[in-house]
Amino acid sequence: MAKLNITICGCGNGAHACAALISNQGHDVNIYSPIQKEIDRFIKAGNYKLDAILPDKSEITTKLNIITSDASEVIPDSSIIFIIVPSFAHENVLRNISEYVSEDSLIVTIPTRSGFEFEAANILPKCNIIGLQTLPWACRIEEFGKRVNIIGKKIEMQAGSLPATISTILLYEVEKLLDIKFSIVKSMLTLTLGNVGQIIHPGIMYGIFGENGDVKFKENDIPLFYQSVDEDIAKILKILSDEIQDVTNKLYENNNEVVDPSEVLTIEEWILQSYGDQIQDKSSLAKMFSTNAAYQGLKAPVKKVEGDLYVPDFRTRYVLEDIPYGLLIIKSIADIVDVKTPQIDKVVNTLGILAGENYMELYESANKIAQISRLPISYGIKTMEDMENIYL
Ligand code: NAI
Repeated sequence: MAKLNITICGCGNGAHACAALISNQGHDVNIYSPIQKEIDRFIKAGNYKLDAILPDKSEITTKLNIITSDASEVIPDSSIIFIIVPSFAHENVLRNISEYVSEDSLIVTIPTRSGFEFEAANILPKCNIIGLQTLPWACRIEEFGKRVNIIGKKIEMQAGSLPATISTILLYEVEKLLDIKFSIVKSMLTLTLGNVGQIIHPGIMYGIFGENGDVKFKENDIPLFYQSVDEDIAKILKILSDEIQDVTNKLYENNNEVVDPSEVLTIEEWILQSYGDQIQDKSSLAKMFSTNAAYQGLKAPVKKVEGDLYVPDFRTRYVLEDIPYGLLIIKSIADIVDVKTPQIDKVVNTLGILAGENYMELYESANKIAQISRLPISYGIKTMEDMENIYL
């Protein structure tokens, strides 16, 4: 492959991993973030040198090209722009780069989570966009701007695009760069529906703490997360998954071009496909979680309160990312096609209240005001630039 100029938007774990792996292939890799403070910190820490520990424990040292908080310095000349930030940050990044992208730009968002396509189509209507179902790497920054540990790497994952008819050459090029086999899905809607984190994380949080949100425990009694999945919690996960399948089937019934139900995996299909031999006992969904080697020992999210006591932490990404950028999107699509989702509603409502974000109430208010008003926000108009696009 010829030497490419590539920009990675983000300075988190995934951005560090991606930057090191791609730079190691000899491409010019830039780092962009609209947050000036972290860009200053990034440059100071590593002085453009970025090390990575690979899954086989070998180490690489790479050199970065431009590191900047000024999108105009890097975006116009980049042949591929990766966006690797948590979903709540997608909008900020998209808006900051929007002025500098063109119809030729290729944007790759990893991972998209649910509903990314709505934001992207609204802010960057003319770009070629590829989205991946999840981050290909399990990775943690060891020293910000300097060193990242890439603990594991997935072999295959779903990729979707906007427009759905994007050239296969572009998909092939990104597949080669990331060294991952793409399973190309019908449309980005598949990624929205098949975002399995939205089932697992809120489902288990609800199962463990939904009825006892004010529980306190000592350090030794902090519950395990995935290994807490018993028959009751597995049932909740299965119903959440079934409700998403109901929405998928109804969308397919309405128009068989928008989604292929066989691409939206059920929770059982997903766990078997993802972890296969790492699961000791495949006799039930509960056992697939509790005997999964990849999940051993991982604790539920908690925060320390008085003395040596801990309480569940509901302001974790398992709630704050997987509900508003996950289950709540499914709920709103379900409403459009008139499918009832009582278990999703219960999980969203309970965890929203426990996290101090009453998602269900906010969702209902947003729908109500949209019906009796013409608020700009209902049409994606949030900034002066959005206004200018209409009037000028
Ligand atoms: P991270 O938390 O390390 O990313 C933080 C970075 O996001 C910040 O350094 C900043 O560059 C950017 N950011 C945060 N708020 C922003 C804002 N308001 N505006 C602009 N940029 C902002 O996240 P990480 O670990 O890189 O994960 C990225 C995504 O991948 C998340 O959705 C995460 O759930 C998912 N994921 C991560 C895995 C991992 O091993 N790290 C594994 C599987 C999925």
